Amino acid sequence: MENRKLAILISGRGSNFVAIHKAICRGDLDAGICCVISNMPDAAGLDYARASGIDAIVLQSQGIERVQYDSLLIDTLRPFDPTLVCLAGFMRILGPEFLRAFPGRVLNIHPSLLPAFPGLHAQRQALEYGVKISGCTVHIADEGVDTGPILLQRAVEVLDGDSEETLSARILEQEHQIYWRAIALMLERVTRRK
Ligand code: GAR
Repeated sequence: MENRKLAILISGRGSNFVAIHKAICRGDLDAGICCVISNMPDAAGLDYARASGIDAIVLQSQGIERVQYDSLLIDTLRPFDPTLVCLAGFMRILGPEFLRAFPGRVLNIHPSLLPAFPGLHAQRQALEYGVKISGCTVHIADEGVDTGPILLQRAVEVLDGDSEETLSARILEQEHQIYWRAIALMLERVTRRK
């Protein structure tokens, strides 16, 4: 699995991580998950990782300054030598030092059609704005919040009567479809570069 190692960063449920892992198990995505790191000790995704025999690491971020947390993360990730670092519901902003450590190799998923509705509660923002179409985006992370070159997007119709929960659930189904496909695209690029 040289050159196809994924480090996955989560903060909670971890359903995108699980979808990526399932794509690997089905043989749809040719990659391996070298570790899962959570900044929250009670993230549900950690249990799934442990049950699947994947290295699950807690690196608590509360009370730690961004620069210090970034270097802690870098030091933890380096020994795994990840090909890509995949942010999957990782709710902590990473600074330039982190991005420089893995240049062009940090991916993020966001529950809107970026550049619309970056930041927190993207689905709520979409409903409040009144858009008729929203969706999800996988992109290469740069130094902004939910910005950087877009790899894949899926559109999701906003239905009359949608609540934040119903819209989020339909968007999440599409997130699970696009993240592993975007990873496959990136791995193609990265391994061709070698
Ligand atoms: C997902 O909807 C993801 O797009 C969002 O957090 C959720 C995590 O769910 N990420 C962001 O909003 C990043 N700005 P998961 O833990 O079940 O994968």
